[in-house]
Amino acid sequence: MNVADERDLAVRRLIEEASAKMEKDGPGPDTLAHIRQMVASLAERADLFPLQDFALPKEGKSQRYKLGSGADDRFVLYLNTVLPGKSTFPHNHKTWAIVASVLGEERNRIYKRKVDANGQPAGIELVEEKIVGPGDAVVFGPEDIHSVHYEDVSPGVQIHFYGQALETLSNRSGFDAAGNEVNYNKSMMKPTAGKV
Ligand SMILES: [Fe+2]
Repeated sequence: MNVADERDLAVRRLIEEASAKMEKDGPGPDTLAHIRQMVASLAERADLFPLQDFALPKEGKSQRYKLGSGADDRFVLYLNTVLPGKSTFPHNHKTWAIVASVLGEERNRIYKRKVDANGQPAGIELVEEKIVGPGDAVVFGPEDIHSVHYEDVSPGVQIHFYGQALETLSNRSGFDAAGNEVNYNKSMMKPTAGKV
């Protein structure tokens, strides 16, 4: 079997097994931890995701490819190629999200919302940082807020697995440099490249 066929098989298997697990056990933390481990195992297969099959960004610092999807735009697996210096605003996903590294180390900053003395929203504060290296994966719930900072010295490859296709989400929030909550949806996203 060639690399592309083997990759497609592994992607289909992950999507099917994750869908079945979610259907059987629901979307709780144990299920997500289980799926996180499955994604981490796939990310260990760097041989399935060679850079020659996924071009580095020609514009900007990252390029997203769709590897596969379950029914109804759910259980969507993407691959991102990234260049040193890529970073995002803090944002949520409004669906569960698992981020794993195939190649390179990516810093994930994790935040919580703050409220002022009157209980009103008052931006966010950093609570934790996680370095995600090859074979590692982190999981986020729909309301969790993170930003990513790719500070490695050479290009990276990351796998992102979402409960719902990013292109279909319309109510995500981001936080700009001043801490203001802003729209963080398709209109702000670089288009996903076609399936390779
Ligand atoms: Fe994200």
